[in-house]
Amino acid sequence: MSTAVVDLGPLGLDGGAHVLVNLALADRSAGERVAVRGEHPALPVHLAAWCRQQGHGWRTGDPGDPSGVVGWVERGATTGARWRGAARAVGDDGSDGIAPAAVSEWGLAARGAAVEPGGPTPRFRLDRRDDLWTDRATALYAQAAAGQWDPATVIDWTVPIANPPEVEAAVVTVMTFLIENEEAALVVPARFLGQVHPHFREIQQVLAVTVADEARHVEVFTRRARCSGRPLALSTAGGRASLQTLLDEPDYATAAFLLSVMGEGTFVSLLSFLEQHAPDPLTRQIATRTRADEARHVAFAMAHLERHATLDPDLRPRLARAVEARHRALQHTSGLNEDVFDALVLLAAGAATPGAVRRGWDRVQELQRDMADGRRGRLARLGFSMAEAETIADLHTRNFM
Ligand SMILES: [Fe+2]
Ligand SMILES: [Fe+2]
Repeated sequence: MSTAVVDLGPLGLDGGAHVLVNLALADRSAGERVAVRGEHPALPVHLAAWCRQQGHGWRTGDPGDPSGVVGWVERGATTGARWRGAARAVGDDGSDGIAPAAVSEWGLAARGAAVEPGGPTPRFRLDRRDDLWTDRATALYAQAAAGQWDPATVIDWTVPIANPPEVEAAVVTVMTFLIENEEAALVVPARFLGQVHPHFREIQQVLAVTVADEARHVEVFTRRARCSGRPLALSTAGGRASLQTLLDEPDYATAAFLLSVMGEGTFVSLLSFLEQHAPDPLTRQIATRTRADEARHVAFAMAHLERHATLDPDLRPRLARAVEARHRALQHTSGLNEDVFDALVLLAAGAATPGAVRRGWDRVQELQRDMADGRRGRLARLGFSMAEAETIADLHTRNFM
């Protein structure tokens, strides 16, 4: 191979000249040379020092050489050693490089990167593909990223609230209930997010955007609750006990099932009820936006668990046992806050009159049927028999989430 020449013009090592020298050396083997041309007065001295530091050889040329060559860099044998022995952070089964088990040595390295050995070996608890993967994560993340909305601009906060005082108080009660449920829906994925091996970045991305969605939901429900200047309503011990069982669940699949398939699925029905029956357009707008996000959270958990259940025959019985255990743990608590139930009736009634309350009552009965049907449908999609789906759907917490 002929000697390559790198022309640095007036550029010195104090201005980044080594970048061009490295580029010229990149396709050279150890022992091959690159001639350096340049006008910077300190170039020979600086290059000699740099070459020593980098493990390259250096020979200074004749001053006043008419070709302008100030010297030659000879590629050293030790350079590029960091790349030798650096295995790629990919699986070898061809599915987009996704490995069945992520290696702890890969750490935070990008999937597909060459990983120099000898770094830290962080432990990510969720490091096995079949415990968390779904091919739908890419599309759901894209959908979520495109669907992010700004509460300040997409919701018209200027619409006047003209609800009768009893009805407005009911709205505040429901908002107070929603906020603590949204907090659970924020904290649970946030906790698992830090446990997912970065190799499964699409799963991290969906969880991260889900946390952002929930932060927005907390914001809009809080803002709606405060619209009329009333204090927030009661947070019951039973409601918080129900949510605590979600926070305490250590297993990712079980938590996704309890929170998203059972809880957020039920919430989709509740938000769609608010979308149709809330007494003011502001609350209806908020319900429309939050429901769209929730539907995506449910779809993500369903996609993961549908795949997981086909690979792990023990998953379904495990999920069923988790619902039973949660039911037992909560059977002595009060379930749904009575105030919330009554508030839903009043909210859907729109007025504190016998005829309106009757209408509100019927709508809440319909909501509960809709919630139970939804749960049974999702359970059936996960492969539970109709009888199992019926039992499990009925054992779900009375607190909705
Ligand atoms: Fe939410
Ligand atoms: Fe959610």
